[in-house]
Amino acid sequence: MKKYFFILILILTISNIGFVYSQKIDLSEKRIFERVDSVLSLMTLEEKIGQLNQLSFGIGWGPTVKSNVPNEFRDLIREGKIGSFLNALGAKFTGELQKIAVQETRLKIPLIFGYDVIHGFRTTFPVPLGEAASWQPELVELSAHYQALEASAAGVHWTFSPMVDIARDPRWGRIMEGSGEDTYLGSQMVAARVRGYQGNLSENNIIACAKHYAGYGGAEGGRDYNTVDFSERTFRDVYLPPFKAAVDAGVETIMASFNEIGGIPSSGNKYLLTDILRNEWKFKGFVVSDWNSIGEMINHGFASNLKQAGEISINAGLDMDMESRAYITYLTESVRERKVSEDVVNESVRRILRVKFLLGLFDDPFKYCNKEREEKTILSKEVKDAALEVAKKSIVLLKNEGNLLPLKKDYNKIAVIGPLANSTSNQTGGWEAMGDSSDVVSILEGLQNYVKSETEILYSKGCNIDDQSTSGFNDAIKTANNSDLVILCLGEDKNMSGEASCRSALDLPGLQEQLAKEIFKTGKPIVVVLMNGRPLSINWFNENVPSILETWFLGITAGDAIAEVLFGDYNPSGKLPVTFPRTVGQVPIYYNHKNTGRPGDLKNHYTSKYLDLPLTPLYPFGYGLSYTTFKYDNLNLNINKITNKDSIVVSVDVKNTGNYDGEEVVQLYVQDLVGSVTRPVKELKGFKKIYLKKGEDKTVEFTISETDLRFTAADMKFKSEPGMFKVYVGTNSTDVLESQFELLGD
Ligand code: NOJ
Repeated sequence: MKKYFFILILILTISNIGFVYSQKIDLSEKRIFERVDSVLSLMTLEEKIGQLNQLSFGIGWGPTVKSNVPNEFRDLIREGKIGSFLNALGAKFTGELQKIAVQETRLKIPLIFGYDVIHGFRTTFPVPLGEAASWQPELVELSAHYQALEASAAGVHWTFSPMVDIARDPRWGRIMEGSGEDTYLGSQMVAARVRGYQGNLSENNIIACAKHYAGYGGAEGGRDYNTVDFSERTFRDVYLPPFKAAVDAGVETIMASFNEIGGIPSSGNKYLLTDILRNEWKFKGFVVSDWNSIGEMINHGFASNLKQAGEISINAGLDMDMESRAYITYLTESVRERKVSEDVVNESVRRILRVKFLLGLFDDPFKYCNKEREEKTILSKEVKDAALEVAKKSIVLLKNEGNLLPLKKDYNKIAVIGPLANSTSNQTGGWEAMGDSSDVVSILEGLQNYVKSETEILYSKGCNIDDQSTSGFNDAIKTANNSDLVILCLGEDKNMSGEASCRSALDLPGLQEQLAKEIFKTGKPIVVVLMNGRPLSINWFNENVPSILETWFLGITAGDAIAEVLFGDYNPSGKLPVTFPRTVGQVPIYYNHKNTGRPGDLKNHYTSKYLDLPLTPLYPFGYGLSYTTFKYDNLNLNINKITNKDSIVVSVDVKNTGNYDGEEVVQLYVQDLVGSVTRPVKELKGFKKIYLKKGEDKTVEFTISETDLRFTAADMKFKSEPGMFKVYVGTNSTDVLESQFELLGD
C-alpha cells in the first residue's frame, strides 16, 4: 500500500513539474501575482470585502462631475470598504478621491474608476450599431482608442463596454449598443473594441468590460430585463462566441447580466461565471455585477434576502458588487458563518488587485489624474477628426433610385425638413456619457457649412418626433414647394433606444410618415435621412421615396458627415449589421435562421410563412448600396474536397462598374447542408472591405478550413462534421454567387 502511495506521489510530482514547465510562464504576470499576494497577506477580512464593493456617484449619464465627496463615501474609503466607484469623473475629482484612498487608509490600495464610455466620452462617436455598419474592425478599434484617450485623460480607468450581446429583436432598445444580429461580425467588432480600449494599458488606455454576460439580448418579447430561455446549443453557437472573442482579445473584466437564463439569474449562475468563464475559457480578469443585479435575484425569486443573494453570487464567481451593497453589508458575516469560504473571497480580491496592478495604479495612483492632459485631450481636433471619419463610414445607403445622390452642386434651394433636421440633442445617442448637444453639428448646420453661400438652405421642422399635431405641416409643405429638393430628416428620439427603451412598433414614431406623405405630394425630389437606434419598418418610404440614407445616431460630427456623404465627398460603404423587417410581426427575423421542415413558399399553403407578407425582410443583413455599382464574377474554389488539415481558397472577381470610386464589403457565407443537428441556412464566415477605383477590378480571396465549420454537434462537442457545404459570396446575405465543397474529415 505504502509503495503504491509513493508511486502515486512520484507520478503527481513529475506530471506537475511537467505542467509547470510546459506552460509559458508570463514573468510580468508572475510578478504581479507576487505583489498581489503580498498585499492580500496584509488585509483583514473587512478590507478584502471592501475591494469587492463598487458604488456610484449619482446615476451617471450626462455631465455628473461632482466637486465634493459625501461624508458617507469619504468614511467608507478611509475604512477600506470601497474598491471602486462608477460615475466619478474628472482628473481633479478622481484625484481627490484617490488621495483619500492612498493617503488616509491603512493599506493605501488605489481605487478603480469605472464609467459607461459606450460611444465616446465627451466627443460622441456613432452608436455601436452604427459603427458595426462600417464592417471595418480596424475603424472600430480606432474609435475605441480615441474614446479611451479622452476618458483616461478625465480620470476614468475602466469602461463598461463593449456590449457584445447578439440582438435578433429590434424591439429591444439595447440593440443600439451592440453590433447587431451576427455572431461572426459581432465577434470581430468586440475584439476590435477590446484592443482599442485596452491597447497596451498605457495611461491613454482603459480597461474594457464585455457585457452583459450572458444571453441578455434574447429577452422575450424584446422587453428589456425580461426572461431569456433558449437551448444550450443556441446559447453556445450564437450568444456566447462574442464573449469568448472578448476573452481571447484579453478583455480584463466582464459584467454579469440582469436576466435569467434557463431559470438561473446570471449573477448567481456558477455554470456561466465559473465553469464556462474560468474553467473552459481561462478568463483571468474579474466579473462585476450589473447595477444591483445581485439584489434583483430577490425579485427573480432566486434568493430570499440580500444576504443570501450575496452568498449565491460570490460562490458562483461574481467578484465585484455594483451598487447592491450585498457584499459590503453581509459578506463578513457570511464568511464567519462559513456560508462563504475566505478562499473564495481571496480569489475575487486577487482578481481585482491584479487589474489595479496591471493598470499601474499601485505604482502611480494618480496616473490618470492629469488636469493638463485632460484639457489638451477633451474635444481635441485629433479626436473630433477620428469621430468624423467613423461617422461617414457608419452611414448606409438604403435606396438611390435615379441616382438622385450624390447631390449635384447646382441646386439653388434645398429644403431641410423634419424633426431631426436641426436637432442637436439626439445625435449624442443613447449613451451620451459627457457628450454635450452644444458640440453637435446638426444636419442643417452641416449642410449650411458645406454649401457655403452658393445654395440657399431652407428649414422647417414639420412636427416633433412623436407629435400628434399637424400644425407644423403647412409651413413644411410651403418650404418644400419653395425648394428644388427636399432632405427629409426623420427618425427616433435618442431616448427611444438604449436601456429600458424598448418599442412594440418599428414604424417611425408620431406623424412623421404622414408628414412625409404630404411632402411627397409636392412632387419635389426627396432624400430621406434616417436617424434611429434600431431597424425600422419603412415600407412606404422604400416604395415611394427615391433615396434613403440610414445614419443611426452619428455623434457630434453628424451634420458634417451627412453633408459630405450627401454631396458625394465620401461614397457610402456601410452595410446593415442587422435585418430590417417589413413589419414588427416578422420579428424575430434574421438571416442565419434554420430551414424548417417546410421552408416558406408563397405558392404552397402548408409552408412556413405569413399569409399577409412576403417571405423576405425589407432589407437583408449585410445590405447597403454605394453611389457606384459592383459586379461579382468567377466565384472559384481552388479545391472541392478538403480534409481537416487542408484549407480552401475561395476567390471572386469584383469590378467597379459604376461612375464613382468606392468601397465594397465582400461577404463570405457558408451553409452546412446536413448535420447531426440542423444547421442555419447561411452563416457569415468572412468579409473584406475593398476600395475600387471607377472601372477597376480585383480578385478577393478568403480561406476556409475545418475550424471555420465547427458548431455544437449532437453530442454537445464543438466540432465539424464531414459532408457537403455550400459557399456563397456576395454584396449582402441574399445577393450572392454560389459554389460547394466537401469536407472529408480526418
Ligand atoms: C446598467 C446597464 O445595464 C449597464 O450596461 C451599465 O454599464 C450599468 N447600468 C452601469 O451604468
